[in-house]
Amino acid sequence: MLDLTGKNALVTGIANNRSIAWGIAQQLHKAGANIGISYLPDEKGKMEKKVAELVEPLNPSVFVPLNVQDDAQIQSAFETVGDKWGRIDILIHCLAFANRDDLTGGFVETSRSGFATALDISTYSLVKLCGAAKPLMTEGGSIVTLTYLGGVRVIPNYNVMGIAKAGLEMSVRYLAAELGPQKIRVNGISAGPIRTLASSAVGGILDMIHHVEAVAPLRRTVTQTEVGNTAAFLCSDLSSGMTGQILYVDAGYEILGMA
Ligand SMILES: NC(=O)c1ccc[n+]([C@@H]2O[C@H](COP(=O)([O-])OP(=O)(O)OC[C@H]3O[C@@H](n4cnc5c(N)ncnc54)[C@H](O)[C@@H]3O)[C@@H](O)[C@H]2O)c1
Repeated sequence: MLDLTGKNALVTGIANNRSIAWGIAQQLHKAGANIGISYLPDEKGKMEKKVAELVEPLNPSVFVPLNVQDDAQIQSAFETVGDKWGRIDILIHCLAFANRDDLTGGFVETSRSGFATALDISTYSLVKLCGAAKPLMTEGGSIVTLTYLGGVRVIPNYNVMGIAKAGLEMSVRYLAAELGPQKIRVNGISAGPIRTLASSAVGGILDMIHHVEAVAPLRRTVTQTEVGNTAAFLCSDLSSGMTGQILYVDAGYEILGMA
């Protein structure tokens, strides 16, 4: 029943084979979607090469640079999508950033610029990308973003990223309300802690993973593939009645009152 054949899906946020976005892209591809990939460009072109090699088995029909802090690059990425596909059905927003200094120690020490950077890349980018995708979602669509429990409860060291995720989750609701009449659904997945490049910047992440493995109802944390499976569900007609929701894929950790 989970069939994404004929759907055009743009996946952002792949940096390496540990990226949650990589787990999502593989599951969307397995479900039959036509895949487009964006990567964060750097001066030496290292990321482009690395991501291109990784995603080759998915035969992406779109491969574009996309730094979400660069409006011209966003415009050009979606122009390419429009030229190649004519229409987009699925957008995966799977990216975030905060300075390492702001992910350890005192929250009151967060700098003005660090706060602005974290919210610009991790939160505002969803709004901006939805705006860019909207005119191309001519047959409706599904947009999925990634969030974390630290946007709802206090998690040690998550600090400014918790504020960014709280804003992201509320953005999901405002976007869902506004885009719903155009049959565009917007949902979020709140994933349990997974070892990735981004999570390694959060102070004490390994302790957090071990803690979840010890106390979560399923006595483990989750994999990129499990998050990918839920993303595929949210992008498919199986979830056609859902929008504006945050789904927890966290081995049940969120339900605990005494963790
Ligand atoms: N790993 C976890 O434990 C966990 C848990 C819950 C939610 N998440 C969320 O999942 C998402 C993906 O993170 P991940 O853990 O897979 O780590 P990751 O490091 O693999 O992915 C983060 C991505 O963000 C991209 N990025 C950073 N700045 C960017 C910019 N300016 N423009 C475009 N892209 C940019 C990076 O290139 C990278 O691909 C993030 O939103 C993260 O907060 C992660």
